[in-house]
Amino acid sequence: MVNESEKPEFWESSFIEKQEMWGLEPSRSAILAKDFFIEKSVKNILIPGIGYGRNAQIFKENAITVTGIEISKTAIEMARKHYGREMMIHHGSVTDMPFDNYLYEGIFCYALIHLLDASERKKLIEDCYRQLSDHGYMIFTAISKEAPNYEKGKLISKDRYEIFEGVKMFFYDRISIQSAFGKFGLFEIIEIKENQPFFLIKCKKEK
Ligand SMILES: C[S@@+](CC[C@H](N)C(=O)[O-])C[C@H]1O[C@@H](n2cnc3c(N)ncnc32)[C@H](O)[C@@H]1O
Repeated sequence: MVNESEKPEFWESSFIEKQEMWGLEPSRSAILAKDFFIEKSVKNILIPGIGYGRNAQIFKENAITVTGIEISKTAIEMARKHYGREMMIHHGSVTDMPFDNYLYEGIFCYALIHLLDASERKKLIEDCYRQLSDHGYMIFTAISKEAPNYEKGKLISKDRYEIFEGVKMFFYDRISIQSAFGKFGLFEIIEIKENQPFFLIKCKKEK
């Protein structure tokens, strides 16, 4: 079910209008995640909110199989154009996870969770954790309260603002990360500067 906070129209029209809006290079977080997954011998990962795939290629180049989930059909077509058709990308909302019964050794979820409302964020973390194999790792990146647009726009609920029409963001700090991920094997929080200040959140599934 797609509700108001995750309407595909916003992302669909953004990708139609702005195309490869973040370029084709991977984010800094994706490079760190790639190094981490290689160190841990992770061989397959799921990327919810894969966009047009700029963060997927670096894993593929390092022999890590990637499966994606993406709400925008246009972004999926762009990913296929740039990176080939062999990568499985499920078309739909992460709120409808799981899309397959597979257990992944790793999950990399970049700049998606903060776009969701409270119950969707909770469900995303639970669904990702459920799709991890024993001793698997999940890495999320999420926007920080240090971002310049924190407290800008319309207040929706605590730490969640409508930054511009169609985009609501929940801004994290270490306390909200601990409370959301603490039960899901959280073991490291790193501050990282992308186009905005982000947190990189690492969790490990223990049997
Ligand atoms: C901020 S972008 C990050 C994209 C990508 N990770 C990157 O940096 O190249 C968020 C992505 O998640 C997708 N998205 C947003 N809401 C979604 C949802 N509910 N389910 C699946 N994908 C979603 C958007 O279409 C977009 O591709």
